[in-house]
Amino acid sequence: METKIIPVEEGNINKAAMREAGEIIKRGGLVAFPTETVYGLGGNALDESASEKIYHAKGRPSDNPLIVHICRMEDIYAIVREAPEPAMKLAEAFWPGPLTMILWKSDKIPYATTGGLDTVAVRMPGHKTALALIEAAGGYVAAPSANTSGKPSPTLAKYVAEDMDGRIDMILDGGEIEIGLESTIVDLTEKTPVILRPGYITKEMLENVIGHVETDKAILNNGTGQAPKAPGMKYKHYAPKGELTIISGSRGKVIEEINKRSREMRRRGEKTGIIGTDDTVDFYEADVIKSAGNREEEATIARALYRILREFDDEGVNVIYSESFEETAKTGGMGQAIMNRLLKAAGYHIEKA
Ligand code: TXA
Ligand code: MG
Repeated sequence: METKIIPVEEGNINKAAMREAGEIIKRGGLVAFPTETVYGLGGNALDESASEKIYHAKGRPSDNPLIVHICRMEDIYAIVREAPEPAMKLAEAFWPGPLTMILWKSDKIPYATTGGLDTVAVRMPGHKTALALIEAAGGYVAAPSANTSGKPSPTLAKYVAEDMDGRIDMILDGGEIEIGLESTIVDLTEKTPVILRPGYITKEMLENVIGHVETDKAILNNGTGQAPKAPGMKYKHYAPKGELTIISGSRGKVIEEINKRSREMRRRGEKTGIIGTDDTVDFYEADVIKSAGNREEEATIARALYRILREFDDEGVNVIYSESFEETAKTGGMGQAIMNRLLKAAGYHIEKA
């Protein structure tokens, strides 16, 4: 299959391109598209065979459910059995935007889309291209991140192409993605709402709208062996090809420890890479040194993280050390989301300096 790549602009919707992309999805094909979080791989959420194609293109286990993307608030009623008040309050507060809600599904959504579950993940993305595509495609687009299963989610269309070229019908290239980490997922099927995946919309922001919210214990740890409730969170994920280790501790000790390890690995002939931050990169020694961004502005780190992990792959780096963002994780904001993804990328390999 030839994958057509079409450049698109959020501020200037190309109606003909949207019509063509929408037709592809209506006919059962797959189109990758930009959202505000990461690129998505879209297919018709109401069509079992389209969902199967998505799993196949990603090499994703079919028990890992897909998020159904909508473009109009009222469309939620068709795909859920009930729309509880907290859900509608959150939708009003954060949609269109980087929030996914888990609700009981209606019969309209096939089990192939929900990985066999009776619940469905729903999100209305905050990106004009995404909304136009969903509308052109009939209103219900199942879309996981547009990466091969296990790899970092794509924040640039070239990485979508790297993973999906020849496997899908079309890629809408909307340039670099704004947020860079996937949407916050909150489960509203329990008595107390539970965050299953941290993201741009934080616990605090949710609590301001609906009161007490819990966080799935499995999000920031590994050791307990507790299975996360979002099936996708249990898989090794976001991983670069090189072996990634996170080093935590005070700034000075971290720099010293990372340099020591990097020197030793280079002596053994390994190509080393380091993930630092704007105020530390000048102090490192390695083959490839990258800044994740500015610690005072977490959004810069969130936006860069997946791109950096992919760049290490491009540059053939086989041993990577990263600073830790534990402290950021405690201060709220996107720190928890950053640390959650970094830990998974490292297979939870974190050591103290
Ligand atoms: O930002 C995003 O959410 C992006 C863009 C493309 O919208 N999409 C995305 O989809 O990250 P995906 O498939 O890569 O991740 C969806 C996560 C998985 O961890 C999956 O297990 C979980 O959502 N999930 C989906 N449906 C669920 C359900 N019914 N119950 C629990 N977890 C669910
Ligand atoms: Mg994903």
